Amino acid sequence: MKIYIVKSYEELSKKSANIVASQVILKPNSVLGLATGSTPEGLYKELIKLYNKEVVDFKDVNTFNLDEYYGIHRHNPQSYYYYMRNNLLDHINIEKNNINIPHGLAEDVEAHCMEYEESIKKLGGIDLQILGIGRNGHVGFNEPGDDFKAKTHLVELQEETIKDNSRFFEKPEEVPTKAISMGIKTIMSARKILLIANGEGKAKAIYDTIKGPITPKVPASILQLHKDVTVIIDEAAGKLL
Ligand code: GLP
Repeated sequence: MKIYIVKSYEELSKKSANIVASQVILKPNSVLGLATGSTPEGLYKELIKLYNKEVVDFKDVNTFNLDEYYGIHRHNPQSYYYYMRNNLLDHINIEKNNINIPHGLAEDVEAHCMEYEESIKKLGGIDLQILGIGRNGHVGFNEPGDDFKAKTHLVELQEETIKDNSRFFEKPEEVPTKAISMGIKTIMSARKILLIANGEGKAKAIYDTIKGPITPKVPASILQLHKDVTVIIDEAAGKLL
């Protein structure tokens, strides 16, 4: 793991955007794995700036999002589809057909999950996967559990995650309790992984991910076994290292 501890969220955002941009510059038809949450918002802002300066071109890029809430419509402002369009995809020259986000209202969830995996495979796999991290060490929506879930699947969200995500919803009871998420195997199959985290609230999860035992109780800890992981965190998130 390459670990960078930076001074500010701004620095974290710029550094991580530069990594994504250089991936696309070196391989214009890159397959990017995208994450949601508040952490990558700055990264996406910086990426849009680089696009506007004509540093990077997304016309041949394909994207796959890590996850989506189950049971909410794409046009619901709380959906990750909405988030992605709002924070990045509507502001760059990506082809609509090249955008892949799990469908929160998929009727046959199992078939949808399998198709999602197939689509990733057909494009040759994910070149660079961006990851945030939950306070309980979850990546995507792979919650702490008894085993490392393999592929894209339907997840039952844990209380801590529902509580953390309730800040984006008007009422706590509106927070979905299920999600469709890439599995740990899907994530680990990416050629490169970029994990970003900021703030003290993530310090324990970051410590456990990097220094702790590899255990499904901390899903992100499996990243220790990946051959090309870059971690960019601010000092607060790195304070226990
Ligand atoms: C959600 C997402 C994760 C994200 C996490 C942390 O659970 N499914 O992909 O990493 O939230 O979000 P934040 O960056 O807002 O702390």
